[in-house]
This record gives sequence, C-alpha cells and structure tokens, in this order.
Amino acid sequence: MSKMFIGALSGTSMDAIDIAAVDFSEAQPRLLAHANYPIAQDLTARVRSIQSDACRLSEYARLDYIFGKLFADCINDFIKQQNFSPQTVAAIGLHGQTVLHDTSQESPLTLQIADPNVVAYKTGISVVSDFRRADIAAGGQGAPLVPALHALLFAKPDKKQAILNIGGIANVTVLDGKQIVVGFDTGPGNCLMDAWSLKHNNQSYDKNGEWAAAHSPDSALLQAMLKDSFFTKTPPKSTCTGYFSLDWLADYMQESTSLSPGVVVATLAELTAVAVANALQGYIGEGNELLLCGGGAHNRHLVECLRRHTKLTVLSTADKGTDPNWIEAIAFAWLAKLRLENRSGAIPAVTGADVATVLGAVYRTNCETY
Ligand SMILES: Nc1ncnc2c1ncn2[C@@H]1O[C@H](COP(=O)(O)OP(=O)(O)OP(=O)(O)O)[C@@H](O)[C@H]1O
Ligand SMILES: [Mg+2]
Repeated sequence: MSKMFIGALSGTSMDAIDIAAVDFSEAQPRLLAHANYPIAQDLTARVRSIQSDACRLSEYARLDYIFGKLFADCINDFIKQQNFSPQTVAAIGLHGQTVLHDTSQESPLTLQIADPNVVAYKTGISVVSDFRRADIAAGGQGAPLVPALHALLFAKPDKKQAILNIGGIANVTVLDGKQIVVGFDTGPGNCLMDAWSLKHNNQSYDKNGEWAAAHSPDSALLQAMLKDSFFTKTPPKSTCTGYFSLDWLADYMQESTSLSPGVVVATLAELTAVAVANALQGYIGEGNELLLCGGGAHNRHLVECLRRHTKLTVLSTADKGTDPNWIEAIAFAWLAKLRLENRSGAIPAVTGADVATVLGAVYRTNCETY
C-alpha cells in the first residue's frame, strides 16, 4: 500500500481548507506538501446559518454536497500543483467542516459536512471520514483526536510537556514521557476574539493581537466569564464555537455594557490564556515546555498572555520541527492510515470512551477487494 496520505479539514474558525500530504513510511511522519484554500465569506455565512436551531434541513443537505465538491476541487488542485499521481495516495482523511459539536447532553451530537462520497468520486481516491462518532457511540467525547499524534511527534522519554492547539477552540495534550496524561478542550481559542473583531473592527481576526495589546482587560468581566460551567468541569470535555459564541459573551456582558470594544477584545485574549493556565494546573508544573500550534500561535499578544499566566516555557511546535499550521491536517492523514489498518486512533483516557474504537468510515471509489 502507498504510504502517502492526505489530510483535509477546515477548522472551527472556517478561515480556510487546510490540506497536507504526509509520508508515513518512517517512524516519524514526514510532511511532503501543504496548501490552504480560503473559504468564500458567503459560504461561511451559510454554515453559520445551519448552526442555529432554526436550520433548514434542505440547506444542511445542500451544504454537505457543496462542501464535498469544494474539498474535492481543492484536493484535485493540490494534487495537480504538487505533480502527485492520485494512485500514489493511499487515502484522504477528510474531516470536512465542523458544524456542531455538543456532547454535554444525554443525546450527544457532532456534525461535520463535506459529503465523502463526492470527494471519493471526484478525486478517484478512497476517503476516510466521520472520525468522531464511533468514539461518541462508545461513550466518549469524540474529541480531541489529536493527542495521539501530538505524542507521536513530540514525546520524549522523561520529559513532561504540554501541546496546545489554538484553533477556534483550544485543546491541550499533556505528555509525561511517552504517556498521554490527559487531553481536552480548554475553551475558546480564537473564536470569541475573531467574532468580536469581525463585529467591531471589521477584521476576521486581530492580527498579531495588536488591538488587544493596546488595551487593558476588564477584571470583572474576566472573572464573570471564568465562572462558566465549562471551565469548572473536569476532563474529559470538549466544546465548540456554537457554545462560545457572541450570544454566550452577551450573557456575561450584561453588567459590562459600557466597556469599549478594545477592552473587551483584550479581556477575551486574557480569557483564552487564563482558561488554559487554570486547565493545566495539577497536570504540569512551572518551567516545563508548552508547545503551541494552530493559528493562535501567531497571535503575539496571546502568546505573551499564555507565558504570563501558565509560567511555562512557551515555544512553537516549529521549534521542535513541525510547522504549527499543519498539525491538524497531519493528524487526519494519520487517522486515515490507522483506519485502513483497522487500528484505533482514539484514546479512551482522553475522550472518556469505554473502549478504543476504530475511527472513521471508508468510502471506496471502486469494487477492489481489500
Ligand atoms: N497573525 C495572526 N495573528 C492573530 N491571529 C492569527 C494570526 N494568524 C492566524 N490567527 C488566528 O488563527 C485562526 C485560524 O487558526 P486555525 O486554522 O488553526 O483554526 P481552525 O481553523 O479553527 O482550526 P481547528 O478548529 O481545527 O483547530 C484565525 O481565525 C485567527 O484567529
Ligand atoms: Mg483553519
């Protein structure tokens, strides 16, 4: 079997479709090529419309097809640009576009769109998709799924360290030597800052955190938000941007209506960092390393806040040899490989599942036996 796998996703920030081609023939994954493809604003608005309880079922089904076609077009372009032959790709790990994720209720749900049938047909490559629901069926959170890859990439004997992915939502993995101590979502990564920045500054994100850095956070608002039950819950836990939304923020701002937008964005940056620092307490002590990945690793102000609050040595995963922008895409390429080998990619100690399930469903393009 070819050892090249493609990972493709557009994260909760909906900023772009990330695609990575990864070679797994050696002990360490090797990133062969990567690209991202921005998502048109009218499409992100349509995804937001189906995140609401007033979602029209036909719009959901239509977007599932539209995103399937979009992912297929992007992957085909990527393969062409890289001069790869589709036959050399063993499979595509297609996470698609996250729409909903809420495992806090008795009937948990997670929903990603981008019809894998469309991607398999239009690329001619087998697709592995629907990575989260087997773990949820087994009583788990279905998230985060990256800790096993974090361990593969960064674990060192006798070294305690944490890896923090700062996407729309932030998730952390704590490693003690090769052992995964814990992995869970810490709360908002960039999502609240992004939504606030779009609404009050007409920018999809606060570049390098400059807007936040120019203001002081409001302590009363910060303390009020930190009382939210998500932060006080013990792991396993996961969340999504539908929870940490501007509506969520508005509930906590009822007493703080006079704050300027700049003060609020500074408070949101502080919230992300303090939530991470609080979440890590008891798992990793001062002086150990915190490796950052995901787009938030580029937010200089946020990185400073994390340094100040965690008292850890804050580095980028780039300092350990892996570009912080591509770790999630590498993870889904790897999960596709595990699926084809019928091996589990889930870690019950992280997700809280009863057993380690084999994650994902396989969509073949032809009738080959395997
Ligand atoms: N230079 C920068 N300064 C500040 N923030 C940045 C910068 N570059 C990227 N970001 C932030 O990173 C976000 C994109 O990060 P990323 O793609 O990792 O998140 P994501 O798509 O939500 O991923 P996932 O949900 O899978 O973790 C942007 O929305 C923005 O908030
Ligand atoms: Mg992204």
